[in-house]
Amino acid sequence: MKVDVLLGLQWGDEGKGKVVDVLTPKYDVIARFQGGPNAGHTLEFDGIKHVLHTIPSGIFHSNKLNVVGNGVVIDPIIFMKEIDALVKMVDNINDRLVISRKAHLILPSHRLLDAASEQAKGKQKIGSTLKGIGPTYMDKTGRNGLRVGDIETPDFKTKYDNLKRKHEQILAQFDFEYDLTEMETEWLACIERLKQFSLIDSEHLINNERKAGKKILAEGAQGTLLDIDFGSYPFVTSSNTITAGACTGLGVAPNQIGEVYGIFKAYCTRVGSGPFPSELHDEVGDRMRKAGNEFGATTGRPRRCGWIDIPALKYAIMINGVTQLIMTKADVLSEFGNIKVCTKYIHRGEEIDYLPFDVLSDDMKPVYEELPGWKEDLTNLSSIDQIPSSLNNYIEYLEKQLETPITIVSIGPDRKQTLMRKSELA
Ligand code: GDP
Ligand code: IMO
Ligand code: MG
Repeated sequence: MKVDVLLGLQWGDEGKGKVVDVLTPKYDVIARFQGGPNAGHTLEFDGIKHVLHTIPSGIFHSNKLNVVGNGVVIDPIIFMKEIDALVKMVDNINDRLVISRKAHLILPSHRLLDAASEQAKGKQKIGSTLKGIGPTYMDKTGRNGLRVGDIETPDFKTKYDNLKRKHEQILAQFDFEYDLTEMETEWLACIERLKQFSLIDSEHLINNERKAGKKILAEGAQGTLLDIDFGSYPFVTSSNTITAGACTGLGVAPNQIGEVYGIFKAYCTRVGSGPFPSELHDEVGDRMRKAGNEFGATTGRPRRCGWIDIPALKYAIMINGVTQLIMTKADVLSEFGNIKVCTKYIHRGEEIDYLPFDVLSDDMKPVYEELPGWKEDLTNLSSIDQIPSSLNNYIEYLEKQLETPITIVSIGPDRKQTLMRKSELA
């Protein structure tokens, strides 16, 4: 059985958590392949809202195995907080969750380095979630990092002290005050708790399950436009958020990837700094933020809002090899009489239909087409046949532009508010 992948096509927060939870009954294993507690994946069911950061979004279903893959970075403190919140709702969590020994650990000093670096950047700051993601991946590629498997070795504390000392030397170069003592005590206590979990060589598990005919869904974090190679660099995260990231982040060979579900909002949002060609700085953007409740699941920051961006989506579909599209938050656009779609840009006076290298340029303006809206509450619909014709037109218009079938339409945050769709393109 090949491994299916679900990932974001925009700047994150597309609704990955919700849809992974909806799709989990079809799978045996759900595996996170990159990112860490910078992610906030929201799920809602039975009137309960839950936000996951490190743990895969299949965790609420019994008899499913959730894997934190080698490509993920783990902060033991945040991980244990997630566990503590989950044990009230999830039985035998240890049986449902395994962690790769090769996943890297976020140290308290990584978080300090993230904060010091952002502070020093001033106006140029990335708008990082300050969870220590960048510094941890830097230590991974710099071959200095600590991995989950290291906590099982007798000299772990020495390895920790050595890395912490390196970080203290770097921190001394910043005008940045800190006190590590309290964070460190808590972190070391959480490392002890982490030892109680099933720490495994997850690449073997994934491939054995795959060979045994089990269905695996790889869950992405962040979004394609935050990818370290293909995102709006340097305003990106520090991992490969794209399909290729599922290969390296789980140990799945490229020829073993099956369906690639690309998820996008019916409009566009971004949290943190960086270019956003179709961003709305006006009252329309404010209405979108309010209607869509666009506030970060991890940091609570207001998300920047704008119309859907076709060239950016086409790029994401190309990079990821998307086979099926999932559109979320269609209900939010019920707020608007007309809906705009960015189809190209005017860049340095020239019309272009792709994302240029220099996306940052101030001299880049979106070109819009306008489509009629539907102005109808969608949140109680139970079948795709019930959707208003102008929403159907919007979906068909996007499918044509994107040359990829839209097979799921989400009309609200709850599990149940999900419409399956048979596409003519499928
Ligand atoms: P993720 O990071 O991709 O998992 O997305 P987030 O959880 O950060 O953000 C998505 C937000 O939109 C969450 O608050 C979800 O509960 C909510 N959401 C997901 N799908 C829909 C939808 O179709 N309509 C509405 N109104 N909200 C949705
Ligand atoms: P999910 O998985 C939205 C953004 C941050 C910042 C940039 C770098 O919930 O979609 P980092 O902390 O990674 O160094 O921050 O990336 N960012 C996200 N934005 N959703 C996320 O995750 C994000 N994870 C990071 O706001 O601009
Ligand atoms: Mg999120």
